[in-house]
Amino acid sequence: MQDILQRLAQIQNLKALDELRVEVMGKKGILTEQFILLKSLEGDEKRTLATKINAYKEQFEHALNTKREQILKQEMSENLIQQSIDASLFTALHKKSKGHPVHQTMDRIIDFFVNMDFSISTGPLVEDDFHNFEALNIPQFHPARDMQDTFYFKDSMLLRTHTSPVQVRTMAASKLPIRMIAPGSVFRRDYDVTHSPMFHQLEGLVVDEKNRISFANLKYILEDFLHYMFGDVRIRFRSSFFPFTEPSAEVDISCVFCHASGCRVCSHTGWLEVLGCGIVNQKVFDAVGYKDVSGYAFGLGIERFAMLLHQVNDLRSFFETDLRVLEQF
Ligand code: PHE
Repeated sequence: MQDILQRLAQIQNLKALDELRVEVMGKKGILTEQFILLKSLEGDEKRTLATKINAYKEQFEHALNTKREQILKQEMSENLIQQSIDASLFTALHKKSKGHPVHQTMDRIIDFFVNMDFSISTGPLVEDDFHNFEALNIPQFHPARDMQDTFYFKDSMLLRTHTSPVQVRTMAASKLPIRMIAPGSVFRRDYDVTHSPMFHQLEGLVVDEKNRISFANLKYILEDFLHYMFGDVRIRFRSSFFPFTEPSAEVDISCVFCHASGCRVCSHTGWLEVLGCGIVNQKVFDAVGYKDVSGYAFGLGIERFAMLLHQVNDLRSFFETDLRVLEQF
């Protein structure tokens, strides 16, 4: 026994360890033979031997396991040393992406509103006439439909021209209070330095019981949001028109390019228009069967924000997948 334990202590690898295990506890092992012998004994003799070999077995197994762990640990640290790699190699090939500038901007905007307790809603990109226009107080022959150059499918289906249909879908599917944003792609027949046929918008909608939501609430959250996005800019609300909000406003910030002294980007006005908003029109509430409620809504173009934040002057460069451009973000 002592002899076996001494041999075990000398062992340095798993193979030799296993060989010793077989020699002791295998089918023909010395310990196994003792157990077989036990069967032919009786009485005191049997009891004495049983106690002895069981103690022996326990001692051997314990020593075996300890040794095995020790060898494994040793092998692992040897492997780690041998297999360590030079992490400074290939850095030029392994570029880490921080995401597309449009998504970076979208995430930053979403972060603000999620922190302000807004939830996120989505809607289909292929919309029907009712959700994209009709329910938003843009009836079939309303001149406002001209404002949106729409991609139509058959049977009054179309590619949504804005994220506002998500307002309608969210109201139809939820109970008050509603406090949601809806980011996503939208489509219009437009293509120039500030327009692309596919772009992204983010809609905001807050609805609660009658008289609970006012223009002041809207103004507060948008001012806070624009300072979060653009820092110390001046902000103005300009009276405007949208069929689905009444009253409506467009919001401008002082030009981030020339600090309001006048430049080509702000057409020498010192102001940049950044979003549309207003108090939800009663007609929209009627379309979804809401009574005695109040609410505000706003909508903004993500690409426009990305262009202003990164001082990009051609929106199309976001979608040309030119790495020389995208790598700069
Ligand atoms: N849907 C409008 C647009 O696409 C933006 C908007 C949304 C305006 C919500 C007011 C309220 O221009």
